[in-house]
Amino acid sequence: MLFAEVGQSLIDFISKLDPLKNIIAYPIMKFTLIHPVSGKLRYIRFIALFVAMAYISGCARIGKKEYQEGKTVYGNKAMVVSAHPEATRVGIEVLEKGGNAVDAMVAVHFALAVVYPAAGNLGGGGFMMYRQPSGEVVSLDFREKAPMAAYEEMYQDENGDIIDGLSLAGPMASGVPGSVDGMLTAHAKYGSLPLKTLLQPAYKLARGGFPITAKQANNYNRYRKTFIEHNRDSTVIPLVKLDGEWEEGELLVQKDLAATIKRIQKSGRDGFYKGKTAELLVAEMKAGNGIIELEDMAKYQAKWREPVTGKYRGATIYSMGPPSSGGIALMQLLKMSEHFSMGDLGFHSPETIHLMTEMERRVYADRAKHLGDADFWDVPKEELLDDRYITSRVKQINPTKATDSEEVLAMKLDYQESEETTHYSIVDANGHAVSVTTTINSGYGSKVFVSGAGFLMNNEMDDFSSKPGVPNVYGLLGGKANAIQPEKRMLSAMTPTIVEKDGKLKMVVGTPGGSTIITSVYQVVLNVLDHEMNMTDAVSAGRVHHQWKPNFIFPERDALDPTTKKALEKMGHQIKDRGSIGRVDAILVGADGQLEGAGDPRGDDWAAGF
Ligand code: GLY
Repeated sequence: MLFAEVGQSLIDFISKLDPLKNIIAYPIMKFTLIHPVSGKLRYIRFIALFVAMAYISGCARIGKKEYQEGKTVYGNKAMVVSAHPEATRVGIEVLEKGGNAVDAMVAVHFALAVVYPAAGNLGGGGFMMYRQPSGEVVSLDFREKAPMAAYEEMYQDENGDIIDGLSLAGPMASGVPGSVDGMLTAHAKYGSLPLKTLLQPAYKLARGGFPITAKQANNYNRYRKTFIEHNRDSTVIPLVKLDGEWEEGELLVQKDLAATIKRIQKSGRDGFYKGKTAELLVAEMKAGNGIIELEDMAKYQAKWREPVTGKYRGATIYSMGPPSSGGIALMQLLKMSEHFSMGDLGFHSPETIHLMTEMERRVYADRAKHLGDADFWDVPKEELLDDRYITSRVKQINPTKATDSEEVLAMKLDYQESEETTHYSIVDANGHAVSVTTTINSGYGSKVFVSGAGFLMNNEMDDFSSKPGVPNVYGLLGGKANAIQPEKRMLSAMTPTIVEKDGKLKMVVGTPGGSTIITSVYQVVLNVLDHEMNMTDAVSAGRVHHQWKPNFIFPERDALDPTTKKALEKMGHQIKDRGSIGRVDAILVGADGQLEGAGDPRGDDWAAGF
């Protein structure tokens, strides 16, 4: 009797293991422990029991996680922080198995394409910053490109007016995707584990499904109408549930996406840029007047770029250069900040917010005029970061009075589109660090799923300046520098950043947030270097944004107290509260070498480390 009771407890224990392991262990345990046997079978029973026990203890050991996970995690060796717990787990498990930071990056990127379709992607693009323990930092540009048939006025009607929404939703909104080539290019140079192994967790998550979070359930239900409006066949949209509403914890299964990942596992780059996937993608585009051709796909190539680098208060900053505006804008902000003692002025004091606003106003004005894809436009990088120029800009700032931004143009104050995009930060056990920001632009990109291939296409064409003086979805202005041209990359604000101090890795940081990306990264760097916050506080702290035009300080609701707001208004600033800004996923290396991973409390963001 006792034997049977112990047996039952053991069986209960096995039932908590992976289902596959149960298939083997469960019948053996049942046979050995519960069924009454006699004679010689008793000896066989003991041998079988021994085998089963050994098997279970093996399973238990394999199933045991070495890592910690949560919103804030400390680790001595390795850390992953991403927008979704499932993707974070995929990454940390690659690192546990001995993979390096680039291996983990590839695994996380593909996993995010499955578990975080709002911004994780195969149909988008992004930027990677990678620091090796030697201190060498490289950056990879896998930003989308304008298709070869694109032209400057493609979003204007015969009167030269912008056709509402054309660059934002539907097949016309998409650029040629760069993510898959970016991941494979980085892996070919720096990866250590086979590509097939690294894509397997994403494949499994797509094929077998994963439980969606409460935020995801709400989001998919909210977007249901939009998805149906923009897709040919509403019955095959993975995020549209045909029989009712999504609920937290329900499994999201994406079989077509699994098949696409399998094709990439099998054929590498050609599994996406040629053959069935490319054909499905081009067919989807053509069905809605899109202009991406098979030749655009075959020609896409990620590019290694020179990182933007500079000093701030004894730290060295590395960030992304054009076609991102992020690196240059961040460095301009930090170089101007060095003229002040931001720490002494106090976190979120009226003086600090005033100065930040005045600096941001000037930097975003430069961005609109001077920044674009450097392959097509002569970006005056040296001039923009020149000390004399920075000093002259600082001298224009009145310490107690707001400057008036020029006349505000047609603006979008309400940010109806969510500023999706997603960032992940990784440090491996040998000190390699990866900072990647990737996007399909606004939430769920163009809203168009490639039928039969299961992934969403980007609406990155909206990041071009469709017409000088007309703001994009983030209210950003642009001119000739960022005008549409065939094969040009649209200007980005993505700012994946690595900070080094005393020759050692100090911080890995980045965020989504459209135009607010640059100012969010800027604030997190200040929070750590000037306001001496730990990573968790630096990430959680309220954020404030200004982008020259429209001429408003946008604080997150409750980020500024009423007295500070009053003081700022007295200086001549206009203030408009808004919803949350950015979702920073970052890692800080402490003086003792300990890693602190922080996932932004604004989302499902999650850290894991050991
Ligand atoms: N699509 C947002 C950015 O690249 O800045």
